[in-house]
Amino acid sequence: MADKILVIGGTGNIGYPLIKYLNQQDVQIVAGTHNIQKAQAKFEGLSNVEIKHFDFLDPSTFEAAFDGVNKVFFVRPPQLAKPKQDMLPFLTFAKQKQIQQIVFVSLIGVEKNPMTPHHKIEQMILDLKIPYTFIRPSFFMQNLNTTHREDIQKNHDLFIPAGNARTSFIDTRDIGEVAGITLMNDKYLNQKLNITGPAALSYQEIAKIMTKVLGTPITYSKPSLLKFRKVMLKRGIKKDFVNVMVMLYLITQLGNAKEVTDTAAKVLGHTPRTIQNYIYDYQDYFK
Ligand SMILES: NC(=O)c1ccc[n+]([C@@H]2O[C@H](COP(=O)([O-])OP(=O)(O)OC[C@H]3O[C@@H](n4cnc5c(N)ncnc54)[C@H](OP(=O)(O)O)[C@@H]3O)[C@@H](O)[C@H]2O)c1
Repeated sequence: MADKILVIGGTGNIGYPLIKYLNQQDVQIVAGTHNIQKAQAKFEGLSNVEIKHFDFLDPSTFEAAFDGVNKVFFVRPPQLAKPKQDMLPFLTFAKQKQIQQIVFVSLIGVEKNPMTPHHKIEQMILDLKIPYTFIRPSFFMQNLNTTHREDIQKNHDLFIPAGNARTSFIDTRDIGEVAGITLMNDKYLNQKLNITGPAALSYQEIAKIMTKVLGTPITYSKPSLLKFRKVMLKRGIKKDFVNVMVMLYLITQLGNAKEVTDTAAKVLGHTPRTIQNYIYDYQDYFK
């Protein structure tokens, strides 16, 4: 019988490319979605996607979303920063349902950072003994057209507190495809995959590449962590989310975001996308 896969976060950066990938495979897809209207618009035209309401914070939505499901993919929504409160009820439910594989988007270097929510979530899955695949990506290229878009669009500036450190950015379209492949192949069970893009770049280098591809000068103002935090809070971004970002950019400044691995290439069977590919494909976001 074909797998029935519950995808949580299917409207997001990774979940959407994953849904598109799975839609080409012989599987049943349940998109467990938080905002139903957004999901209906996003998945229009994808014939094999059943939309069901799902909210990590509302256990009454779990039973229907898990109906007949044997595998689960999820991301931790960035605003949910308290794993025990936000994620443990869902994970305990997945255990009760005897899920055969849970694919979780974690974070590269997570084993060295016990304070991150990702570390705590991985540990909960291990403690519950649910068969897992942990996908541990480096920083997303798509942070530029989401979190940092406003500064690029309005001020033509990368307002990012990463100092001179280098980062091995990965495109979330590749992460979605890696997730899809791991869901279709038992050999990735109980594996931790540290995936990155093909190169580690500084934000000075990214500004130069953006300038070239977009045909508009883009600067890198290199704010301090404190200044970045202040500006983000003033913009109304939730404190928990801002604090996680500050922690991750501190880790970057310490040189912990520059490791390049060939794991994504091995899983995908080809080199993952470069930052040039990404900026070209997303150029309209920055205009
Ligand atoms: N950014 C990076 O560089 C980076 C690097 C490594 C790891 N990560 C991790 O990757 C994860 C984010 O992945 P992403 O960028 O694909 O996420 P995303 O685009 O922000 O999407 C979040 C998804 O979660 C859903 N969601 C929000 N609240 C929910 C709730 N209460 N219950 C169920 N679903 C809910 C959203 O649905 P709606 O659209 O319906 O609200 C959306 O589909 C985070 O855990 C982050 O820490 C990020």
